[in-house]
Amino acid sequence: MQIILTTLPGDGIGPEVTAQAVRVLEACAEIFGHELKITEKNMGGAALIASNDPFPKDTEEACLSSGAVLLGAVGGPAFDTYPGHLRPEAGLLRLRKALGVFANLRPAVCLPGMEAMSPLRPEVVAGTDVMIVRELLGGVYFGARSTEGQPGSRRATDSMTYTEPEIERIAHVGFRLAQGRRKQLFSVDKANVLDSSRLWRDVVTRMAASYPDVKLSHGYVDSTAMALVSKPASFDVIVTENMFGDILSDQAGAVVGSLGLLPSASVGGKVGLYEPIHGSAPDIAGQGIANPLGTILSAAMLLRHSFQLEEEAVSIENAVKQVLAAGHRTRDLAEKGAASVSTERMGGLVVEYLRSIAARA
Ligand code: IPM
Ligand code: MG
Repeated sequence: MQIILTTLPGDGIGPEVTAQAVRVLEACAEIFGHELKITEKNMGGAALIASNDPFPKDTEEACLSSGAVLLGAVGGPAFDTYPGHLRPEAGLLRLRKALGVFANLRPAVCLPGMEAMSPLRPEVVAGTDVMIVRELLGGVYFGARSTEGQPGSRRATDSMTYTEPEIERIAHVGFRLAQGRRKQLFSVDKANVLDSSRLWRDVVTRMAASYPDVKLSHGYVDSTAMALVSKPASFDVIVTENMFGDILSDQAGAVVGSLGLLPSASVGGKVGLYEPIHGSAPDIAGQGIANPLGTILSAAMLLRHSFQLEEEAVSIENAVKQVLAAGHRTRDLAEKGAASVSTERMGGLVVEYLRSIAARA
């Protein structure tokens, strides 16, 4: 099969981690006999510096004419003073919109043996395997916003809007994912206060009739935030609106304690977008110590969701699990004082394990 990708290494540690994911994809393509074609483009701060636009036209065109997009990370302190529309983050929102990716899948898994990474007691976090489905193109992120008035008496507004079709399409994704997992869908809202949440709950409840095999429950976002730390292993699939999902997915990442390991997929549109959950980590950029596994696991999600290459995806995931089980750690995962491997070595280890899995098959 032909796998045509655009990579957007972006800022900070983005280029380092993307390079390792590309290595793994190349090895995987070779092992399974696929033809891989990659075009690299500027995005975020890197694009701002090159062309004064965080999401340039030629980047957009390359993304839209490829089968999937792999993103490293965008943003950095150098851009904090840029006006809103010229911030790297604004480029990211435009990228999501241009691709039409309304469904953001953010798994947070505590792999066996990684319990000590969590700030929670091992027995609380053990077995946590939650998939957060975040609506990505609506809500307060894309609602009307404005700032009016003079300093001292200014007034700023952001609005949260959802339509029934927007809620339906993301809920379908949640129900279907739950069907393929432990069949429990937890819908998160703030229906005790917000109209948009009351509509959300109404629509999701109505849709449950079409998925009789899935057990649907609802929770408010505040109590869900509590439950996510007090009993994280009780969740299967969580579906929620854009900003609640932004917040809860960071929380879930912290709960399992290994942000550097977590991938994400944004799907449902013309072209899928895949990126690690972590940010650009400017404090450690260029030192060769960043953890590439979140990006490598994002590449596995890319093969699964954009190319239906399940076996290839699973073999990358298994290679990562085996590398970790063998005790290899980048600095973020290593115990205090213990030895750690570089970004590049970690990518190389995943490639080695991938090849040995293939050789045994
Ligand atoms: C995320 C990030 C982005 C978001 C920022 C960088 C715009 O926090 O992907 O979760 O809020 O969606
Ligand atoms: Mg976020």
